[in-house]
Amino acid sequence: MGARSRKLLLLLAACALAASEPLNKTAIKSDMATDTIFQYEDYDSAEDQEVLFSEDRPCPRDCICTVSQGYRIAKCNRLEVGTQKFGDDITDLVIENADPTFPINLDDFIFKKLGLHQIATIKIVNSTIGFVGPNAFHGLHELYAVNLSNNKLKTLHPETFANNKKLLLLTLSNNQLKFPEAGSHDYFLNASSVQELDVSYCNMKYITDSTFKNMPGLMYLNVAGNNLSDMDANTFKKLLDLEELDLSDNNIKSLPEDIFSENTELATLHIQRNPIDSVYGLQISDLLTLNAGQTNIKFIGPSMFNGMTYIANLNLSGNSIEKIHNQAFHKLVELNYLDLS
Ligand SMILES: *[C@@H]1O[C@H](CO)[C@@H](O)[C@H](O)[C@H]1NC(C)=O
Ligand SMILES: *[C@@H]1O[C@H](CO)[C@@H](O)[C@H](O)[C@H]1NC(C)=O
Ligand SMILES: *[C@@H]1O[C@H](CO)[C@@H](O)[C@H](O)[C@H]1NC(C)=O
Ligand SMILES: *[C@@H]1O[C@H](CO)[C@@H](O)[C@H](O)[C@H]1NC(C)=O
Ligand SMILES: *[C@@H]1O[C@H](CO)[C@@H](O)[C@H](O)[C@H]1NC(C)=O
Ligand SMILES: *[C@@H]1O[C@H](CO)[C@@H](O)[C@H](O)[C@H]1NC(C)=O
Repeated sequence: MGARSRKLLLLLAACALAASEPLNKTAIKSDMATDTIFQYEDYDSAEDQEVLFSEDRPCPRDCICTVSQGYRIAKCNRLEVGTQKFGDDITDLVIENADPTFPINLDDFIFKKLGLHQIATIKIVNSTIGFVGPNAFHGLHELYAVNLSNNKLKTLHPETFANNKKLLLLTLSNNQLKFPEAGSHDYFLNASSVQELDVSYCNMKYITDSTFKNMPGLMYLNVAGNNLSDMDANTFKKLLDLEELDLSDNNIKSLPEDIFSENTELATLHIQRNPIDSVYGLQISDLLTLNAGQTNIKFIGPSMFNGMTYIANLNLSGNSIEKIHNQAFHKLVELNYLDLS
């Protein structure tokens, strides 16, 4: 593509941006999906923290306990049943960058045994977890968010979170986890309340139509960076509440046309950095945002987006696009933002 036509395309993009002022649906939907994540992050970044100390609510060895906006946070270097005893008012447990020569072993009932009966969030990141017992999180009825990213974790029993009925957010990214094999009917986790699951960079390789069948509440699913390739048309058909799906940084060459036919809530799809060359025929009735940057899309024909006519944000940047049909975006009456850089 010459410099001249590139300029023209950019102009086109700018026009599309200027011409449409109507309400910004993306902003509304995506805010909803990420709200809870940011709330969770706020706990340990708040500035008005005060150190907690009291006779009857002791802060255990190797921990610092603080209060912030009503949350009682224990930040620890390690966990050890027997020597540590937490006050049952602790709501948040944080372990970051723990010494890798002493792997953290999450034995059955460990959090209950430590006295963490009211715990709402557990964040153990950038450490080494030796193993997680199938009942490690048992009895934690207020548990709302768990972040176990980057811990060299290898396996999780499918029923690990089956009894945590309030669990909404689960982050397991950057662990070389075991997932059901191709062709198997096994499921990854039985966790019906979880709404947001991040299993990015987890060495997943295959995703079957059974992998997430016992997580019907999923609204946000991140499987980026897993070298996933071909997918069965039924892969996501049980996830009826799915709003955002991140498939970026995989090895996907094509997607079955009806793979999202049951996902009527799907508003945001990320497929950037996959060797996919077309989204022609893909049916996603309510899609608002499509990120298809750095793919192999070279030609944009007149009907490539006919199955996604409500797109408001379309990112096709970093593609070696050679030709765009003059009717390519004709049906996208809601198009607000177009990136062809
Ligand atoms: C729409 O909302 C997104 C997300 O908040 C924002 O980045 C973008 O600039 C908005 N677009 C317009 C045209 O207001
Ligand atoms: C989980 O922890 C990692 C590492 O600190 C952080 O980057 C990520 O944002 C956290 N995720 C959530 C959902 O809190
Ligand atoms: C994770 O640990 C490594 C060293 O082990 C450190 O360089 C890095 O900054 C840590 N990351 C976070 C998010 O704490
Ligand atoms: C999932 O866990 C629930 C307990 O919360 C249990 O009743 C149900 O049988 C489990 N489902 C499967 C398929 O194991
Ligand atoms: C990704 O999967 C392909 C086969 O689908 C394989 O040839 C390749 O080595 C894998 N890459 C990585 C980084 O695992
Ligand atoms: C489009 O995607 C590219 C990466 O693929 C990113 O750098 C760019 O910021 C995205 N544009 C918008 C507006 O989000």
